[in-house]
Amino acid sequence: MSPSLRRPSIIPDYRQSGLQPVPKPWRDFPLKGMLLDADTIRERIETLASEIQEETEDGPLLMIGILSGASVFMADLIRHMRGELEVTYIGVSSYRSGITSGSLAWTLPLQVDIKHRRVMIVDDILDTGRTLEMVTTHLESLGPASVKRCVLLQKHRESLHQEGDAPTIQAEHVGFLIPDTFVVGYGLDMDGQMRQLPFIGSVLLPES
Ligand code: IMP
Ligand code: MG
Repeated sequence: MSPSLRRPSIIPDYRQSGLQPVPKPWRDFPLKGMLLDADTIRERIETLASEIQEETEDGPLLMIGILSGASVFMADLIRHMRGELEVTYIGVSSYRSGITSGSLAWTLPLQVDIKHRRVMIVDDILDTGRTLEMVTTHLESLGPASVKRCVLLQKHRESLHQEGDAPTIQAEHVGFLIPDTFVVGYGLDMDGQMRQLPFIGSVLLPES
């Protein structure tokens, strides 16, 4: 089936859901609670992988993960995919201590030629959309056949919507919609910490 004709899966919406207790081995981590458990993440990634897999029917796909946040997600996503694909990474850094740093820095440049290729950018989370917008603009300037985006999480920031500042960039594939809370685990970090959690947790920030 052509990707443009397929029905998109309904994105699980966790904006209203409460937090679950943090599983025992991780109780000492500074978390308010668990937002998404490991099984929920695993099941959703299987669905996302089969959606993206369909896109490989139209030709090989180049998956470009944004380091470091997308590393765990990408590793699990591609292990469900059988189509023809290549995987590479770029590095972009935008956050410090849970707060937007205000500027984006390239920490690892693109290492492959993407001219005339079908590109899928993979990131951990779409928040303000600045990262995906900058990366999309940069990659599009290099002459690919197409650029699409896949994120595990999309954060809903009510304040940005009220200010008319909602992200203009969209991801074609989204794992979960989540509330406006700082999350860690499953590759996402705070100050480089807590990427190793097998679930997504909501952080106990000093000001919250
Ligand atoms: P954006 O540019 O505001 O969309 O932010 C996207 C990037 O910021 C992601 O690639 C993450 O690395 C980081 N980020 C945004 N929100 C969070 C969060 O809640 N936890 C950890 N990292 C986040
Ligand atoms: Mg990131």
